[in-house]
Amino acid sequence: MKDIYILGIETSCDETSVSIVKNGTEEISTIILSQMEEHAIYGGVVPEIASRMHVENITLVIEECLKSANMNMEQIDAIAVTYGPGLIGSLLIGTVAASTLSYIYKKPLIPVHHIAGHIYANNLGNEMIFPLIALVVSGGHTELIYMDAHYSFKRLGGTLDDAVGEAYDKVARVLNLPYPGGPMVDKLAATGEPTYQLPIPLDDSSYNFSFSGIKSAVINLVHNETQKGNSIIIENLAASFQDRAVTILTKKTMAALEEHNVENLIVAGGVAANKSLRSRLQELCKEKTYNLSIPDFKYCTDNATMIAASGYFVCKREEKGGYDLQAKASMPLI
Ligand code: KG4
Ligand code: ZN
Repeated sequence: MKDIYILGIETSCDETSVSIVKNGTEEISTIILSQMEEHAIYGGVVPEIASRMHVENITLVIEECLKSANMNMEQIDAIAVTYGPGLIGSLLIGTVAASTLSYIYKKPLIPVHHIAGHIYANNLGNEMIFPLIALVVSGGHTELIYMDAHYSFKRLGGTLDDAVGEAYDKVARVLNLPYPGGPMVDKLAATGEPTYQLPIPLDDSSYNFSFSGIKSAVINLVHNETQKGNSIIIENLAASFQDRAVTILTKKTMAALEEHNVENLIVAGGVAANKSLRSRLQELCKEKTYNLSIPDFKYCTDNATMIAASGYFVCKREEKGGYDLQAKASMPLI
């Protein structure tokens, strides 16, 4: 069978990334240009700055990716691009770049949902085994998804309010930690003890989550203690928040595997980089002899490698976009 090379483009937030992936699993080359430092001084991503920087960088990143792969556009079979969800201005830069390449080089244009991309980060190196449960944990999503084949997504449940990454970022902010907050809370939690009393959020038999209550509980606790002139042991507060978040994520994930008689678990999205979540899932899956796939750290947060990998399976379904492909700020996976 002929090898298929997909060039992926990801610009949904503050990373300009381009990658070439062979047959949906083998990374040939990836370039990620992070704008993190640019946004850090504002304490979060400034959409206007993000789109402007994507405009400045996208051509260079495409050229650099082809150069490091030692390939040219003629050798590319299709162009995959994140068309949503994300920041609309940022998405537009990626979709316009991809449509232009597709038009000039007469290559199919493959629209990829950002969350499908995160899921397919688990297909890099080793192919995913079905049926599986995907725990999707990012800055905008917290979902449990059942898959019995490629691109067959059945949503079991998800957050009713904040995504877990969003809660991490807000907790980081109230603890005066620099942006991006999630990795900082993770790091701090590793040196603390979960001594603060916080609720376990939405501890019921559903596959839904709720992180806004625990986020508010942390914010209120900090404000109350500050007003009383008491100091906060931030390592312990970070550890307490992380303990509750990881407890509920792992509890519902293990219940979903058991109830659906599934032995394969994959984890997707930026929060998959969380050390406590990774180690607790490793322990629990080992106990149950379930297969666990968590992407390497570099594939957990936004990158185009996952978009190119995912694009291969969209391509196989013969779903192609036209040159009028529309970027969408919000869009459900299913
Ligand atoms: O998947 P991602 O890069 O972007 C979205 O699609 O949202 O995820 C970013 C989210 C942010 O909320 C960030 O704080 C969180 O992932 N994150 C973490 C860790 N690394 C990134 N949260 C907890 N622990 C981490 N180590
Ligand atoms: Zn993402």
